[in-house]
Amino acid sequence: MIETRYLTKVYKDLVALDKLSLTIDQGDIYGFIGPNGAGKTTTIRILATLLRPTSGQAFVCGYSVNGQAKHIRRKIGYVPDEFGVYEDMSVTEYLEFFASLYEITGKDRKRVIRDVLELTDLSYKKTAEVDSLSRGMRQRLALARVLIHDPDVLLLDEPASGLDPRARIEIRELLKELRNMGKTILISSHILSELSELCNKVGIIESGKLLFTGTVTEILSKVRSNEIALVQVREAPERAAAALLEHDLVIRAEVLADREGWIEVEVDKGADDVSFVTRLLIERSFAVLSIREQEIDLEEAFMQVTKGQVA
Ligand SMILES: Nc1ncnc2c1ncn2[C@@H]1O[C@H](COP(=O)(O)OP(=O)(O)OP(=O)(O)O)[C@@H](O)[C@H]1O
Ligand SMILES: [Mg+2]
Repeated sequence: MIETRYLTKVYKDLVALDKLSLTIDQGDIYGFIGPNGAGKTTTIRILATLLRPTSGQAFVCGYSVNGQAKHIRRKIGYVPDEFGVYEDMSVTEYLEFFASLYEITGKDRKRVIRDVLELTDLSYKKTAEVDSLSRGMRQRLALARVLIHDPDVLLLDEPASGLDPRARIEIRELLKELRNMGKTILISSHILSELSELCNKVGIIESGKLLFTGTVTEILSKVRSNEIALVQVREAPERAAAALLEHDLVIRAEVLADREGWIEVEVDKGADDVSFVTRLLIERSFAVLSIREQEIDLEEAFMQVTKGQVA
């Protein structure tokens, strides 16, 4: 659906994209993640045929960005990272304007606009001025706009940036709906955790280079280290910690000084889960009050990959 081969973009003496090769299949929701200046917008603008690559190739729906841009434009919906200013224009007028660009007229236009407003929960704002919308509504309107011509591929440049948590969730739910409609979506962000639930694949880019591409599970297993469990016993945590240390799969067992009865237990990644910790303690007659696994921090994982700490 989307393929780049050695895609390179040079601005004067700055290499913004450095031989980037990635593949996105039909129906993929691909999270394109990287810090500021990594080259996300540059890549997306090339795919949207708004920017020419210096060298290399990129294909969208089988068409090349070098020479077949016209075909690509009908197939894609591109939401840029900035919304722009639309003075004295209502939401409906705004959508009518874009519908006319795609030569959608008359009854079809009315129906399509009603549909996209409904999908993006903006029907109640159809007569409002575009400039009066909140940021979250504007992001949804930008999505409504690119859905007018029913594109197969959506290129979304940070659609959730600057939104409050609730608006982020709304955008995420909307994107899930689009995913269920079978659209292929490339979505950029600099926050990995924001995308991990939504995307089936991620690509991590830094300084114009693709550091990693694969499934979310793969990236986690790459950075996954030993499991950490926190366990609370009613009494004698020091003795409990010593008992745990005798087990082959326990690498470390430390009594937490500031929390009564709690022990931090590092378990070898070879263990299926940490349930044996509870079993062992109960067998040794310790009263276990509570146990929980420490969550893997996606942001941490991301930082490790972008710092090149993971081969
Ligand atoms: N028109 C331009 N002229 C010169 N350099 C540019 C131009 N556009 C982008 N760059 C440079 O290319 C690099 C990649 O920029 P790009 O906008 O693609 O990054 P990004 O990953 O989208 O970052 P952000 O998260 O801040 O949006 C940056 O170093 C940027 O300064
Ligand atoms: Mg950008």
